[in-house]
Amino acid sequence: MKKYIVQGGVPLKGEVTVPGAKNAATKELIACLLSDEPVVLHNVPDIGDVDVTLEMIRALGVKVTQENGTVTVDAGTLKTSRVEEQQRRKNRIPILLLGPLLHRFGEAMIPRLGGCEIGARPVNFHLDALEKMGATIQCTDDGYDAKAKKLHGAVIDLPFPSVGATENIMLAAVLAQGTTTIKNAAVEPEIVDLAALLQAMGAIINLDVNRTWVIEGVASLHGTEHRVIPDRIVAASFLTAAALTGGDVFVRDARQIDLLTFLNALRRANVPFEISEEGIRVTASKQLKPIVLETDVHPGFMTDWQQPFVILLTQADGVSIVHETVYEDRFGYAQALEKMGAKIQLHCECLGGKSCRFHEHDYRHSAVVVGPTPLKAADIEIPDLRAGFSYLIAALIAKGSSTITGVEHIERGYEDIIGRLKKLGAKITVK
Ligand code: EPU
Repeated sequence: MKKYIVQGGVPLKGEVTVPGAKNAATKELIACLLSDEPVVLHNVPDIGDVDVTLEMIRALGVKVTQENGTVTVDAGTLKTSRVEEQQRRKNRIPILLLGPLLHRFGEAMIPRLGGCEIGARPVNFHLDALEKMGATIQCTDDGYDAKAKKLHGAVIDLPFPSVGATENIMLAAVLAQGTTTIKNAAVEPEIVDLAALLQAMGAIINLDVNRTWVIEGVASLHGTEHRVIPDRIVAASFLTAAALTGGDVFVRDARQIDLLTFLNALRRANVPFEISEEGIRVTASKQLKPIVLETDVHPGFMTDWQQPFVILLTQADGVSIVHETVYEDRFGYAQALEKMGAKIQLHCECLGGKSCRFHEHDYRHSAVVVGPTPLKAADIEIPDLRAGFSYLIAALIAKGSSTITGVEHIERGYEDIIGRLKKLGAKITVK
């Protein structure tokens, strides 16, 4: 089993470049299937989730070429509507194939989904919306069996601004007959980037006021070229790591506009940073301050920034509160941190401000973090992708040598993570 051995106590220094966004690139690879002409995507990260997505679309008959972050997808050769059983439970991308496959074949068969275990992660919003658009979908033990002669537009009011459901409806709506309106939709930068690609392919797609997407179906989409936006989760992860290790790091391609809420939290925690057009530089804080933090859908503080930020708060002087409002079970990683010396108490109540949709459940979705607590090295197993990076930075500031297993979770989403950290001076060996 592959593991990282991390020697703590070295401040990170130098420059690191942010790769393309996982959560944009993987969806955009699926959007390419809506055209039978080649689509060229630049800045596609070299990560496990992209490999899984490419393997899946290749198995559907799509021609893919890959060179230095540029991927050309030619779905003119798409030959089957059945996603292979071997893609079962690898990640959550296959569900997004329903729209494109229904348009191309009138039917689609998708195996059960995988992805990080951070809550129940149902797909009821996706399925309800597609049914409203004219699909009939059967959920079997094996997966989802969908049929639709022709998808049509609909007004869909999402119960929660789900990222995946918004993307799924978009991918179905661009070629549907008539207009689709998605109310209470997600408006994350990765979704806006997906919309930009779809528009470049010939779609008519508009972001209206109040989280509403309006999409007028067109008869066909054509090939184009598109550059994937930089990954704001990777950017925030490096900025946090730099601040925590007391280092000085310039994170190239960290875009202020995608990181506004994150940068506000950094400022409140007393982390100095400088913004330029090329990126963001973080330097060591004289004293980290505790803060109250609430995760939310965009433009709120991302749930995927929460885990590295909690490590930062373990080193702040006082009591911080973190309220997770997107996923009911995203603090599972805290236990291993306690083993390293962190003081993190989990609560079912909504602490810190507003009451969220989990307030009547027994979900431990609020955390009280008491700092500063020096961390000591430990042997830790990564439970999910974002927790993985937070363990890495915890190990980078811990006293002694930590052994981290379950590293395949990290490699699903962070391109050349060890190479990048080592370039910044981190002492890590891979075994
Ligand atoms: N939800 C439902 N029903 C649905 C869909 C979602 O109840 O049909 C609930 C979920 O259970 C969750 C909430 O709505 O409580 C939000 O889920 P959402 O659909 O927005 O998440 P997702 O599309 O499955 C994506 C990212 C996640 C990221 C979230 C939130 C990808 C592949 N995944 O997940 O990223 O945390 O949006 O921004 O884009 C990661 O990259 O490590 C990751 C987990």
